[in-house]
Amino acid sequence: MGGEASTAIALREASVAFRLADGRIYTAVEKASLDVADGEFVAIVGPTGCGKSTLLNVAAGLLRPVSGEARIFGGPLAGLNADAGYLFQADALFPWKTAIDNVAIGLEISGTPRAEALARAQGWLDTVGLGAFAGRYPHMLSGGQRKRVGLAQVLIRDPKILLMDEPFGPLDAQTRQIMGNLLLQLWSAHRKAVLFVTHDLEEAIALADRVVIMSAGPSAHIIGDWRVALPRPRDIFEIRLTHEFHTLHREIWGVLRDEVMKGYAQAGQAVA
Ligand SMILES: Nc1ncnc2c1ncn2[C@@H]1O[C@H](COP(=O)(O)OP(=O)(O)OP(=O)(O)O)[C@@H](O)[C@H]1O
Ligand SMILES: [Mg+2]
Repeated sequence: MGGEASTAIALREASVAFRLADGRIYTAVEKASLDVADGEFVAIVGPTGCGKSTLLNVAAGLLRPVSGEARIFGGPLAGLNADAGYLFQADALFPWKTAIDNVAIGLEISGTPRAEALARAQGWLDTVGLGAFAGRYPHMLSGGQRKRVGLAQVLIRDPKILLMDEPFGPLDAQTRQIMGNLLLQLWSAHRKAVLFVTHDLEEAIALADRVVIMSAGPSAHIIGDWRVALPRPRDIFEIRLTHEFHTLHREIWGVLRDEVMKGYAQAGQAVA
């Protein structure tokens, strides 16, 4: 093993710029470099507006860097990243489809016969603990239940890479932890490369193999990369209580805190 082909995502000095309405160019991300190995769980944490979603969009092939590149399993990424499943912060379920149809849709689009797609979708609903909710529409589900359906919807396609943009952001603290444990269970059974964006440093440490910190923008880049050597399997309720967790949290927060303050200061200037 090893080598470039076992690197699921490699961002090489990727810079992303946007043209603003007044014609100016805003460099959101500058020369960001990041590797995610096959099967590795990497969390990105950074102040609001720094460019976390932007980086994820580059890895998804939704945004093209103005310089630098994204490589996926050793090859250059051109167009959409077909190896990746994307879980957004907002619900991406079709409101007019039942839970099971929402999960089955990805298979149906790629040509799986409907009966087989439904059978597999039911299996995934069982796995995420929603076996009895197959016939419900999204508005009949709680926020946490909708997130479970969203996870099943992405995982049924068996992507090698999972891109997650604050997927549990809108949930209450307890439900977030339950979802975190579910995600870790699924991840240890199916081992995908995960790039997980969160505001929440505790969540990042509890879940990930590595925590990567981004600087405040403009021209945001990666300013820290910590290996989380906490044992697995983890229970994210329990892991937060350990001494090792606190030590790492304190160390990373020492770097993140300054960037968070800069991020707020810059956002304030932008509206002024
Ligand atoms: N299409 C766009 N046009 C202009 N500027 C953009 C565009 N998309 C993003 N930006 C800017 O780029 C920066 C990074 O945005 P991004 O959405 O990646 O931040 P983020 O780190 O995900 O923030 P949050 O934590 O709030 O979700 C922000 O300053 C944002 O205003
Ligand atoms: Mg974002």
